[in-house]
Amino acid sequence: MKIAILGAGNMGGAIAKGLVRSGVPAGDIALTRTQPGTPEDLAAAGLSVGTDNRAAVEGAEVVFVAVKPWLVSAALQPLAGALRAGTTVISVAAGVSLAELREDLSRARGVRLARVMPNTAVVLCCGVSGVAAESPEALEVARGLMARLGLAVALPEDKFGAMTALSGCGLAHALRFLRAGQEAGLEMGVPARMAGEIFAQVMRGAAELVLHSGNHPEAEVDRVCTPGGLTIKGLNAMERAGFTGAVVEGLLASLPEK
Ligand SMILES: NC(=O)c1ccc[n+]([C@@H]2O[C@H](COP(=O)([O-])OP(=O)(O)OC[C@H]3O[C@@H](n4cnc5c(N)ncnc54)[C@H](OP(=O)(O)O)[C@@H]3O)[C@@H](O)[C@H]2O)c1
Repeated sequence: MKIAILGAGNMGGAIAKGLVRSGVPAGDIALTRTQPGTPEDLAAAGLSVGTDNRAAVEGAEVVFVAVKPWLVSAALQPLAGALRAGTTVISVAAGVSLAELREDLSRARGVRLARVMPNTAVVLCCGVSGVAAESPEALEVARGLMARLGLAVALPEDKFGAMTALSGCGLAHALRFLRAGQEAGLEMGVPARMAGEIFAQVMRGAAELVLHSGNHPEAEVDRVCTPGGLTIKGLNAMERAGFTGAVVEGLLASLPEK
């Protein structure tokens, strides 16, 4: 499947590298940006980046739009005549609706539209993406591709804001928790790198336990807590310091207005 990715920045590059990691031949992916030259990390994955969007979308079955939201119209409108019928255009631009994308492509005949809200962990095929589309066909193509890059969840468009906060921003929130664990380990005398590795694996283990069992997180917490033991003392100390409230406040503050 020939895939074009317009916008070889953080997200476009992560999707491209994730697709290669998932088995898509690098030669099937045409990336573009405005400045000439292929960034080193993309070249190392066997990818190359051009500057000609029309050439990139020629013959492409799927076109990802991964430019900043305010640049989507400028990137898409000139391509309306170049996209062949049956092409699926998948936008990752936060806050740009399917209706706005359709307006940009009003002159394009038979083009299918989808939008996804991924996070940058797609680079390692362990991302999470919300997917919405104008048609079941577009949804199938977009969800199939994003499922190669991690969990892909079909969502109504009005839940994309929540997906932005939970997944896109939530990745950074989770990393802040990781950093906090690392700092605590450091204060206990564990070297920073080792403390970071240990706590990252703890977070991975906690996530895997919940994902595999389907249990509520508190069911797994209960297994670790001995009555009167150290775990519950630590958890209660975290709550007295406002842990759950701080996490909820942080995620709500990351909820986009639109
Ligand atoms: N980063 C995230 O975690 C994240 C998460 C979810 C969704 N998104 C969405 O992903 C999109 C890109 O964000 P980003 O963080 O990846 O931004 P970024 O790193 O600034 O990348 C944007 C890329 O778009 C290129 N570009 C600009 N105009 C173009 C055009 N007309 N044709 C082709 N390429 C063009 C830029 O190229 P030059 O640098 O050469 O100008 C740059 O490589 C945004 O819409 C954002 O909402 C990002």
